[in-house]
This record gives sequence, C-alpha cells and structure tokens, in this order.
Amino acid sequence: MGLLLATPLSRARRVLRTLTGDPRSPLAGRTVMVTGASSGIGEATARACAARGATVLLVARRAEALDRVRAEIEAAGGAAYCFPVDLTDGDAVDRLVRRVDAEFGPVDHLVNNAGRSIRRSLELTYDRFHDVERTIAINYLAPVRLTLGLLPAMRAQGFGHVVNVVTWGVQVKSPKFAAYIASKAALDVFGRIAGRETYRDGVAFTNLRFGLVRTEMIAPTEAYRRLRALTPEQAAETVVKALEDRPVTVDLLSAQVIGLANVVAPRLTDLVFSLADRAFPDSAAARSGSGSPAGSPRSATTGGR
Ligand SMILES: NC(=O)c1ccc[n+]([C@@H]2O[C@H](COP(=O)([O-])OP(=O)(O)OC[C@H]3O[C@@H](n4cnc5c(N)ncnc54)[C@H](OP(=O)(O)O)[C@@H]3O)[C@@H](O)[C@H]2O)c1
Repeated sequence: MGLLLATPLSRARRVLRTLTGDPRSPLAGRTVMVTGASSGIGEATARACAARGATVLLVARRAEALDRVRAEIEAAGGAAYCFPVDLTDGDAVDRLVRRVDAEFGPVDHLVNNAGRSIRRSLELTYDRFHDVERTIAINYLAPVRLTLGLLPAMRAQGFGHVVNVVTWGVQVKSPKFAAYIASKAALDVFGRIAGRETYRDGVAFTNLRFGLVRTEMIAPTEAYRRLRALTPEQAAETVVKALEDRPVTVDLLSAQVIGLANVVAPRLTDLVFSLADRAFPDSAAARSGSGSPAGSPRSATTGGR
C-alpha cells in the first residue's frame, strides 16, 4: 500500500487538526531544503516551513539575501541554515549534497524551487540558443542532479518527498515560453517517473504547477501587471500544503481544462493561442535582449524575459 492513501489521510488529519484547534504541522521536526530561498516563492516557503517547526536549509546564489532570510527566521524562533550555491555548477551541487548529508543526515523534503523564466518569441530567439541552455541548466539539470544526490538517503530512511515547483504552462503551453516551459515540462516528467520508482521506499514526488505569482520573476513582463496573481505568501501556503499532503500534482482547474482542450481540439487551441500570441507582444526587456549568456549573473535573470 505504502503511499496509496498517504494524501487522503493527510488531508483528513488536517481537517481534524483544524476542528480540534491543534496547531501542530507534520513538518515539525522535519528537515526541508528549499532552493531559490533568497527571494519570491522560495523565501516565503522557507519562512512558512520554519514557522511550522521544520529545520530549513536555504539554497541560492546570493549569500547576503540568504543570511537575511536566516536571521529573520531565527528571530522568529525558527531554525535555518544557509548554503550559497550556484545550482548550475554540478560539482558545487555534489559538494552541497555531501555537506548536508554529513551535517544534517537525510533531507526529509526537498523543494526544487530555484528557477528562471524567459518569455521571448521564437523570432527573437534565433540567435539566442543560450536562452534554451540556461533555462534547461537551472530548471531541469540542476534539480535533477540535486534530487539524485539526496535520494539515496531518503530511500534508506524510508521517507522522503520532492516538490518540483513547475508551472501551469506545462498543461497550457503558452506561446513565447517554449524554452522555459520545455525545461519545466522535463522536470515535471522526471518527477512523475521518479515517483513511480521510489514509491515502495516511501519517497513521494509532487509537481506543483503554479499560475502567476507576483515576484521579481514576472516584473519585466508588462502584460502581467494587470493580471491577477498570488502573493509569494499565498504561493508558499500552497507549497506547505503540498509538503504536508504529498499529492502527485497540484494544479489549477483552468490549466486542467486548457490541457484537456489541447488534447481534444489541438488545432482549435493552436488558433486561439496564435491570436493571443499576437495580442500580447514581447516585453521591452525581451525585445532589448538584455539577457546574458548561460552562467551569467542574476542581473540577467529577469532582464532576459
Ligand atoms: N512567479 C511566477 O509567476 C511563477 C509561476 C510559475 C512557476 N514559477 C516558478 O517558481 C520558482 C520561484 O520563482 P519566483 O517567482 O519566486 O522568482 P524569483 O524571486 O526570481 O526566485 C528565483 C529563485 O531562484 C534562485 N536561483 C536562480 N538561479 C539560481 C542558480 N543558478 N543557483 C541557485 N539559485 C538560483 C534565485 O536566487 P539567487 O538569484 O540568489 O541565486 C531566487 O531565489 C521558479 O522555479 C519559477 O519558475 C514562478
């Protein structure tokens, strides 16, 4: 049986906790590694996990930002540790895994959240193959390497959970996001298959397919300024629920409907999306090509959209 009833039972326990006013979370006492914890969804997730009694391992490149998050978590009575790492550096990821294993033992939950988004039409991408390389590097290769590093200890202890923060785009398939969504779709598929292999060891995978969240990542896209978006804190609550319940996927009803339409009437949805593609042109940042080649510093993360 193993994980078969884990999610419904967790949900039932949450209802019970709410009814009895029990504030304890299943995350209390667990070790949670959050990548991309220096800003946005990752930062808010780290705080939310620490507030529920988890020991949080914070990973991202900006050491000062991580230190600020750690200090704020500690000031609020929580426990957090910083690991400033460029996750696109494979050797650095391997060192991170060895260090965490030696100092903390098995990580119970891994939130693969670090990522970068690029919204740019194919027309503007012909001479920008690095857009494809850098999205794959951080959105797919990095989380897969980290997951492979942490999995043996999770499987050995008979408990583990990997949450992949992906996007509703894997179902919707929005124009101008080919490089970004393809890299997230690769992670989505990896997680789904990995979860089947680790099922009997009690290690679950969750693909969390967010819609828009108001973070630095979407700031350069003018078209998003008027659209509804979650706050990072609201997004973090969704991550926490996923961590507590360990479902296979978390996705939006609208994305499920569009995903179904993409299967049932693919040419019709192509027509609708091609009209939307024309109605929402490339942002000024994407047109100016302010992104830099693979491995470039953070200033290019959002500028490349
Ligand atoms: N915002 C949205 O609408 C939305 C929607 C769907 C999915 N998502 C996904 O949600 C995740 C978080 O994004 P966000 O919106 O919170 O944006 P964000 O504030 O820009 O966060 C991105 C995080 O990734 C880290 N990161 C980037 N490259 C890294 C690298 N090479 N090594 C280590 N860390 C790296 C960044 O930290 P450093 O710069 O310090 O390294 C930062 O903490 C991403 O995977 C994104 O694709 C976002």
